[in-house]
Amino acid sequence: MRNIFIAGNWKMNKDASQTQQFCTQLESHLQERDFGRVKAIVAPVHPFLAAAEGILRSAGVAAQDVSAHPQGAFTGEVSASQLASLGISHCIIGHSERRQYHGESDELVREKLLRLRENRIIPIVCIGETLLQREDGQTREVVLAQLEGCFEGVELASGEEVLIAYEPVWAIGTGKTATSAQAQEVHAEIRAWLKERYGEELAQKMHILYGGSAKPENIGELLEQPDIDGGLIGGASLQIESFCAMLDIALQNGGN
Ligand code: 13P
Repeated sequence: MRNIFIAGNWKMNKDASQTQQFCTQLESHLQERDFGRVKAIVAPVHPFLAAAEGILRSAGVAAQDVSAHPQGAFTGEVSASQLASLGISHCIIGHSERRQYHGESDELVREKLLRLRENRIIPIVCIGETLLQREDGQTREVVLAQLEGCFEGVELASGEEVLIAYEPVWAIGTGKTATSAQAQEVHAEIRAWLKERYGEELAQKMHILYGGSAKPENIGELLEQPDIDGGLIGGASLQIESFCAMLDIALQNGGN
């Protein structure tokens, strides 16, 4: 049976003390009861990863990006091995904001995925179509092309070494959530692609998260869908109350 991930992508929000406060409160919430299959992850900015990692015992800590280079003269970049040396468990790659504002391609995302795998960090690979692409009826084609590019030549052994996040660009930060039916339709396409690429057993073990204006009010309905295995949440992950509310809803949704 798959886990349910509630992952907070904090983007460029929270300073050092806010990060510390949130993590302390989250850790105490997670210790209040057994969350079973529900797994919490938070993704602070790079400078505060160590502090988050030092506080959180019951949640994973994710970086928001990683360099495609293993080491060397790349000012401002952070390597996968440096993240691994901090004990970081996960790393978001290919987020639409990086694709849009930093011109990141599927080939680059694939390189980052490989660096993370070499360092045993679980990549959270983001894919998703723009509004224009959806309106043109290209959603399936776009998403599958992104998967082809990001996973080209990537071998998986258990299916648990990678998470996929379907984040329709038009739903990110806009308040427009994909309906649970719209999200499920694409998640099912993604799982069908995974089955073809990696076989039925691995495809069934792989986790596909939804992202795009997910919040306590809609996360329950999203998680009820058979191919939605969690959420990658931006805005609604910033307040401890709403993040914990989503964890509690996930738990009620059959997390244990
Ligand atoms: P919002 O939840 O703010 O729409 O952001 C989603 C996202 O981009 C998570 O990576």
